[in-house]
Amino acid sequence: MRVKDSLADLRDSYLSPSFSLSYKNPLHIVRGKGQYLYDFEGIKYLDGINNIQHVGHSHPKVIKAANTQFKLLNTNTRYLDETILNYARSLTKKLPKGLNKFFFTNSGSESNDLALRLARKYTNSLETIVLEGAYHGHLISLIEISPYKYNGPGGDGPPDHVHPVPMPDPFRGKYRGPDSGPLYFEELNNILKKLKSDQKNIASFISESVMGCGGQIFPPGDFLKASYDAIRFEGGLCIADEVQIGFGRLGKCFWGFDLQDLRPDIVTLGKSIGNGHPLSVVVTTSDIAEKFHNGMEYFNSFGGNPVSCAIGHAVLKIIDEEELQQKAMKVGGRLIEMLNELKSKYDLIGDVRGEGLFIGIEIIKGKNSLTPSGLAARHIVEQMKENRILLSTDGPDHNVIKIKPPMVFNDEDALFLVETLDKILLKY
Ligand SMILES: Cc1ncc(COP(=O)(O)O)c(C=O)c1O
Repeated sequence: MRVKDSLADLRDSYLSPSFSLSYKNPLHIVRGKGQYLYDFEGIKYLDGINNIQHVGHSHPKVIKAANTQFKLLNTNTRYLDETILNYARSLTKKLPKGLNKFFFTNSGSESNDLALRLARKYTNSLETIVLEGAYHGHLISLIEISPYKYNGPGGDGPPDHVHPVPMPDPFRGKYRGPDSGPLYFEELNNILKKLKSDQKNIASFISESVMGCGGQIFPPGDFLKASYDAIRFEGGLCIADEVQIGFGRLGKCFWGFDLQDLRPDIVTLGKSIGNGHPLSVVVTTSDIAEKFHNGMEYFNSFGGNPVSCAIGHAVLKIIDEEELQQKAMKVGGRLIEMLNELKSKYDLIGDVRGEGLFIGIEIIKGKNSLTPSGLAARHIVEQMKENRILLSTDGPDHNVIKIKPPMVFNDEDALFLVETLDKILLKY
């Protein structure tokens, strides 16, 4: 029996069946370097999807930072330690003024859960506004605010305190076109009015500024900013989930919320922050942190340990040293241009949208149709994999092909991706 087959059998024996594997014929990857992955036979794949390995797989400086600190010491936040402080200081320099109080956790889910706690304490309310199609994590508190999950297979719908706004998708959403922002805002505002008439106050509005699991959705202008203003006016807090889009991925700006000129009250960071190491951060204002400080200690066995902080700090430095944000803007810009050329060639491509290296290709049934084709999208992704390029699909109809590679992805990779996609679409 081939090693790969026996691994699949062992997986069935030991892992919960709730786990999933990518691709019909799953890959057995044994090594990664930069934007490339290598399987057990040494076959090289271009990784077009792993936004967690932000500065590249197995970056030597990340490994060195981890090794050096691990050899020296790993403890917790109950000791005085420079590592966490140096890291927090560097992160502060990347954030808007006023966002300067940090909590350290180990996953995006933990951070979003903590963000909800902060908002609930600050406002003494549970009422939360979310975007349809959004995903914010796998904890009970987050399945509850993630329509992507609670409306999906096995989901139980939202609890009474969760209020979804239609997904602000200008291509295929309830309202369409670049001027649809005010219409989505009206939906959010109606929720606020209803809460008021029910004599309830809003705790928070949590959103990504560009939606990842929703299908690489760029909300129309005039929606998020107006929503932030209205939420604040009613005494609620605005939580920006930067778990997928932060750290320069969008090219134009370091944070997703900057793309929409937003000033969140709480920001959650994850995934790329540790380049694969389980590290995540919540950052907020002094005022909100003070209100949360009610006598109950915040302790997290692993969150903020020196090894995690050394890794996070190394990632932050590499982003600057290797000018990865600028690179994402240039390479991503050219990639989006080439994908748009494919769009004009193939009716199957309904929309190409993106900023930097966060790109979505929406696959539809054909010309003048807005009917999604998850089947075609999945076929394309499988074929891309056969041609040694790893991508995936997302969105409520699983018809959006996502491109969000490690930020070291270069022009040659972009050309290879577009030429391969062209060949596959030609044969479809
Ligand atoms: C936007 C967003 N928020 C939060 C999470 C949860 O992060 P984690 O998987 O680290 O718990 C995810 C994970 O995919 C995500 O995409």
